[in-house]
Amino acid sequence: MSTTSHIPPQAPPDQGAVRVGHDDLTAFAAGVFAHRGLAPDRAAEAARALCHGDLAGPRSHGLANLTRLYLPLLDEGRADPAAEPRTVTDLGAAVLLDARRALGLWVASEAMDRAVERAGRHGVGLVSVRGATHLGCAGYHALRAVEHGMVGLVASNCGRQRIARPPGGAVTMLGTNPLSVAAPAGQHPPFLLDMSTTAAPTGRIRQAAREGHTLPEGLLCDDLGAPVTDPDAFDAGRAHLMWLGGREGRYKGFGLGLMVEVLAALVPGAGLGPHPDALTGDGGPSGRDDDIGFLVAAVAPDALREGAGEDAEELFGALLACPPTDRAEPVRYPGWHEYHRAGERRRGGVPLEAPLYAELAELAERTGLRVPPVQGAPR
Ligand SMILES: NC(=O)c1ccc[n+]([C@@H]2O[C@H](COP(=O)([O-])OP(=O)(O)OC[C@H]3O[C@@H](n4cnc5c(N)ncnc54)[C@H](O)[C@@H]3O)[C@@H](O)[C@H]2O)c1
Repeated sequence: MSTTSHIPPQAPPDQGAVRVGHDDLTAFAAGVFAHRGLAPDRAAEAARALCHGDLAGPRSHGLANLTRLYLPLLDEGRADPAAEPRTVTDLGAAVLLDARRALGLWVASEAMDRAVERAGRHGVGLVSVRGATHLGCAGYHALRAVEHGMVGLVASNCGRQRIARPPGGAVTMLGTNPLSVAAPAGQHPPFLLDMSTTAAPTGRIRQAAREGHTLPEGLLCDDLGAPVTDPDAFDAGRAHLMWLGGREGRYKGFGLGLMVEVLAALVPGAGLGPHPDALTGDGGPSGRDDDIGFLVAAVAPDALREGAGEDAEELFGALLACPPTDRAEPVRYPGWHEYHRAGERRRGGVPLEAPLYAELAELAERTGLRVPPVQGAPR
């Protein structure tokens, strides 16, 4: 049973974390991916996507997943480091891509770059992807569109991995199906909505379990729907993930999860969570996150009309100027904190908890790479 205090979303690491330079960290992660056979440019892109979690905030989907998720995927042959994605259909504004087991961290960014290029020509670009593996933080890939003044949309199902039960259902059917939208906001930080469609991703539950925190109510519940705050109960099969919207609004979260399943997986023909195979499940998580599907889209407002940039600046500026009910907590929109946190960490280093840093040091020893140095320590 875990103890100690609740953690808010995107909480900073505990006291005692070390700080590591962002460039050193991404160079190290790129070295690890290259050691596993990725071409250097792909390894570097995958590393930037991975480290985004630690840089900007959703650290449940950052470097902690290197040894837990991505290296096992590569070592078991479920991700192919040399995969050459294949274009199945190309209609100009819409493309269907078979990722052929490429690392999702890299291929989702490739897909967004292609969507941006098509949106530059057609006003909208859609790259529908199947045969992919885990993409990490959906928002990292969505943000690439913002660099081109466009709105980016990224959603992913979890292949055939089933983690969440439909409301009233006794077996798991869907993944945590992340959804992200990023948009330019003029001189303000970009809007970046980046979230699981369940109340929390499994990464956040397991992170709390590793760190010995209890969870706030509203993320897990037992078979009867009663709240569960012990994160260990999830992997012990005594608790299930709740949908966004809580008990009363759960059909909204469930509906969003299904929306992602349709757009990201049904459209490209990727592995589906809801499938007759799911019916034999024992009520807990089942299936594997192979053959994941993505929806990757870019929309170019400037291609459709003039003045969208000015309007965006006004929209997000008005939100920031909204009078707060509590002066200690000014009104912010999704992406604001991530932008400022990333800026601060680029300058002052990325905090990593001591156990995670020790894990990286051990990995460095095994791969013959140099562990990224702790800032302030002798090099
Ligand atoms: N690849 C996968 O299969 C998968 C599955 C699930 C989640 N994920 C990733 O996990 C990460 C974390 O997801 P999550 O659901 O825990 O996100 P979260 O709950 O930490 O945040 C969700 C959204 O709320 C916003 N937000 C939170 N607190 C805020 C505040 N105080 N002010 C303004 N905005 C605020 C954030 O900016 C974010 O857009 C995401 O990057 C997501 O893409 C990936």
